[in-house]
Amino acid sequence: MIQGEKVRLRAIEREDLPRYVRWLNDPEVMRYFGIYRPSNLEDEEAWYASQRADDSSMNFAIETLEDSQHVGGCGFSHIDWRNRSAECGILIGERSRWGQGLGTDAMRTLVRYGFQQLNLHRIYLRVFEENQRAIHIYEKAGFQIEGRWRDAEFRHGRYHDIIWMSILSDSPDRA
Ligand SMILES: CC(C)(COP(=O)(O)OP(=O)(O)OC[C@H]1O[C@@H](n2cnc3c(N)ncnc32)[C@H](O)[C@@H]1OP(=O)(O)O)[C@@H](O)C(=O)NCCC(=O)NCCS
Repeated sequence: MIQGEKVRLRAIEREDLPRYVRWLNDPEVMRYFGIYRPSNLEDEEAWYASQRADDSSMNFAIETLEDSQHVGGCGFSHIDWRNRSAECGILIGERSRWGQGLGTDAMRTLVRYGFQQLNLHRIYLRVFEENQRAIHIYEKAGFQIEGRWRDAEFRHGRYHDIIWMSILSDSPDRA
């Protein structure tokens, strides 16, 4: 279990999966997210089993310290153990808990774990340009914008630019 100031990151349990199904089918939560197909419990169970057996990914449930509520998930994918880099992602699925600092704390905690426990050197992510809330929390955690893929994703009737951001283990502005 990995402790932050407002959240802890813990292993995902099978009983958590119905909540992921609910979040992944919430259009507001998924507005700027890579996944575009509706998912069901069977999909989530398959994902759960595959990611546990995959050394290049590591996923956590985000739970509040205040009331031990499971509010979201975060983790690493594309872990490259030779170059010590990984992609990260985050989702606070309970919309009623947005704006309470949970996403910021979860991201800082995840990054700290990546550098201090996994010995990563570079953590990167992709985000829709319009997802300013997410970009804001990434910048607060010390991520810098490093590039843009123009018109990379088609959603909501038009193309969107994808922003790439990263943080290095020796970044001076690491949170
Ligand atoms: C993005 C997400 C993780 C943020 O989590 P959160 O718990 O709401 O974030 P926090 O409460 O820690 O911080 C939100 C910050 O964004 C700011 N913010 C809110 N709306 C904003 C907007 N439209 N533009 C810029 N900043 C905004 C808030 O003021 C706050 O910053 P502050 O603490 O400096 O005042 C959450 O909204 C989420 O999971 N969204 C859906 C999934 C998603 O988009 N994930 C990211 C995919 S790349």
